[in-house]
Amino acid sequence: MERLDTVLVLDFGGQYCHLIGRRIRDLGVYSEIAPPDLSPSELAALGKRLDVRGLVLSGGPSSVHDPASPRCDPAILDSGLPVLGICYGHQLIAQMAGGDVRRGAAKEYGATRATVKRPAGVLSGLERSQKVWMSHADTVFAMPAGWEVLASTAHTPVAAFREPRRGLYGLQWHPEVAHTRNGQRMLSNFVFRVCRARRGWNMGRFIEETVRRTRKEAGGDRCIIGLSGGVDSSTAALLASRAIGRRLVAVYVDHGFMREGESGFIARTFGRFPMELRCVDARERFMGRLRGVSDPERKRRIIGEEFIRVFEEEASRVGARHLIQGTIYPDRIESGFRKHSDKIKSHHNVAGIPADVRFDSIIEPLRDLYKDEVRRVGARLGLPRRLVWRQPFPGPGLSVRVMGELAEEKVEIERRADWIVTSELERARLDRRPWQYFAVLTDTRSVGVKGDSRAYGYVVAVRAVESREAMTASFFKIPYDVLERISTRITNEIPQVNRVVYDITHKPPATIEWE
Ligand code: XMP
Repeated sequence: MERLDTVLVLDFGGQYCHLIGRRIRDLGVYSEIAPPDLSPSELAALGKRLDVRGLVLSGGPSSVHDPASPRCDPAILDSGLPVLGICYGHQLIAQMAGGDVRRGAAKEYGATRATVKRPAGVLSGLERSQKVWMSHADTVFAMPAGWEVLASTAHTPVAAFREPRRGLYGLQWHPEVAHTRNGQRMLSNFVFRVCRARRGWNMGRFIEETVRRTRKEAGGDRCIIGLSGGVDSSTAALLASRAIGRRLVAVYVDHGFMREGESGFIARTFGRFPMELRCVDARERFMGRLRGVSDPERKRRIIGEEFIRVFEEEASRVGARHLIQGTIYPDRIESGFRKHSDKIKSHHNVAGIPADVRFDSIIEPLRDLYKDEVRRVGARLGLPRRLVWRQPFPGPGLSVRVMGELAEEKVEIERRADWIVTSELERARLDRRPWQYFAVLTDTRSVGVKGDSRAYGYVVAVRAVESREAMTASFFKIPYDVLERISTRITNEIPQVNRVVYDITHKPPATIEWE
């Protein structure tokens, strides 16, 4: 493979670190994540494979004033490559340069206005007032001579800076999240104007590389893939079948927390693909272990473990040695697999995997992609449109949408409520607009009146969000008449429910699922 022009992202543990890489790849330039303390000799060694044109230092949860905080090798700033520090990276460069960085000086979270004082370099072509997205406590107040202040906010005197001689830049805000309106333009300025990188990366190239890697990882053996009916595992299955053909066996496990009508949908859809499909009814087995469990992390761990056990049994039936999974990047990041990041939750297909799995290896062809990239790959591989555009559904299914103790009755209430939300959004032709829409069965009961008598029933919450990649999300504004139909139907059709509420929280501070 010819060496691709590449921008490396050094990972300081920020929730959006990998998203920076993804945004750069969106620009058609290859990007990879590297450890924060990458040495100049390791950087030189990467040069055999990649033509590194610049570096980004990501955000992170630490304070630069904490002696244990991750740092980069100072020689990196003198390597001759342009460097862009984002949030923590911005503060780190400022501190290394001898700037005035104050601890906890100006806490700014969320959308902020920045004033561009000098529209140069990374901020080329941008108007004076910019909507940017911030999340920081430490603040840069001043930079030494030779450094230019490019932008400030009401609370942050140095919100963007540069040192033009070496091409060093810092942005206190996050250009990689959609809430920074011109964020992609800023990254594009860095990649093309400052680093002078050339485009060479696209989805065709991704497919080629991944098929080749998966074939190598499978090493001539049979593999099984867990198929959930979502776009991730379906796309992973098509990629895997391209790589190893008939040696792939797809296993669909009905754990009892699937959406209404799901098993039939899977059998109809995947029966048409050129792969062996095995459908396993494991409803009793899962509920047997989960009945009465209320801790969300425990639910996830049990489901993750049971899944693996079912896959192991199926694998020994068909003689498969490797497990292929449709894990995508956000699953991994939220499970806290990196050194400097905080754990948010265990995705069942990541941290839920028990230590003693009886597979030679677990292969994850989509491990570095985001959902919308997966959709593009799926479409390119010929996945039906309905599947490509299906809303994401968590691996542990409706179990994470039933708050408190799990029991058959509660799961059934949740399934029916979820079906009503889904079908009403489809009926209103709104189903393509939100990223996800579903019902949550809360663990709260309230007094109501049904007929002429007092009713003590469950509260169902309706959740619908807009998002680009699930890392951040805004609540979707379902029109009132649709909400009214949903509420009326849920309370009429499900006797145990007498109140419906609408969740109007963004992510952050909430997550998309309730758990
Ligand atoms: P949160 O709730 O963390 O969810 O904002 C982000 C996205 O991930 C989906 N999700 C999962 N997907 N396995 C998955 O494949 C899981 O265990 C899992 N848990 C959450 C969630 O539906 C949302 O789209």
